[in-house]
Amino acid sequence: MLRKKLIAGNWKMNCLSKEGTDLAKAIAAKVKQENYNCDFLICPPFTLLSLVKKCLRGTKIALGGQDAHFAVKGAHTGDISPLMLADLGCSYTILGHSERRTDHHETNKIVCQKAIAAHAAGLKTVICIGETEAQRDEGKTIKICQDQISGSVPEDSTAKNTVIAYEPIWAIGTGKTPTAADVQEVHAAIRQALVKKLGKATAARMRILYGGSVKPGNAAELLSLPDVDGALIGGASLKVDDFIAIAKNATK
Ligand code: PGA
Repeated sequence: MLRKKLIAGNWKMNCLSKEGTDLAKAIAAKVKQENYNCDFLICPPFTLLSLVKKCLRGTKIALGGQDAHFAVKGAHTGDISPLMLADLGCSYTILGHSERRTDHHETNKIVCQKAIAAHAAGLKTVICIGETEAQRDEGKTIKICQDQISGSVPEDSTAKNTVIAYEPIWAIGTGKTPTAADVQEVHAAIRQALVKKLGKATAARMRILYGGSVKPGNAAELLSLPDVDGALIGGASLKVDDFIAIAKNATK
C-alpha cells in the first residue's frame, strides 16, 4: 500500500481528567480488540497528554499535540515547545489548524516555522489547510489550498514526517461537507501542489487527510476517494463508537 490511512482524533479544548482518560481507555480497548489496517492518532489538549499516554500503552495509537511553538525553549509565556511534546511521548503535532490561524493569527509563514521546529524535535506534523465559505463561493478553493501548501509546508518535509489535512473551514463542526467529487478534486490539486514543492516521489507517498464533519455516515464515501488518505476528526472523535466506526471504513 502506497499510503496507509491515518485516522486522527482532534479533541480540541475538550475533556477534564476523568472524561479524557475514560475516552482514551475505551478507544485503546477497542483498537486492541481488532486488527485495523490503518494508523491511529489521538491529539488531546496539552493538559491530558501524560494521562492519555498511559492509557494508550501497549496499543499502536500515536499521541500528538494540537500545536507547538517554533522555539525550542525560552520566554514564550503559555506556549509549548515541540521538544516538550516529544518529552511527553508525543510523536505528532497538529499545526496550522484553522482555529489557530483565526484565534491566534497564525500565518502560513508561522506554520512553516513551527513545522521546521517540530521536525527538528523529531515530531511528525499534521499541517492543516482549507478555505473559508466566502473563498469557496468565489471559486478560489484550489488557489487558496495551493498557496497554503506552498507557504506552510517546509522544504524539509517528507512523506514520513508530514501529513496534510484538508479542512474546509465552513465544514468544521457544522455538519456540512463538500461533495465527494469536490473533496477528490481538491485533494488531487493539493497533491499537485506537493509535487511542485517536494517532488513526485514524496508527493505520491504523503498522506492527505480530509477533515470537517467526518461522521460514521459519510466516512465510507470520503475514505474511498483515491486521494483521501485518512481523516482528521473533531466532534466525532470524542465519541468512542463514532471514532471506531469511522476507522472501520479506513481498513477497506
Ligand atoms: P469536526 O472538526 O470533525 O468537528 O468538524 C474537525 C477539525 O476541526 O479537525
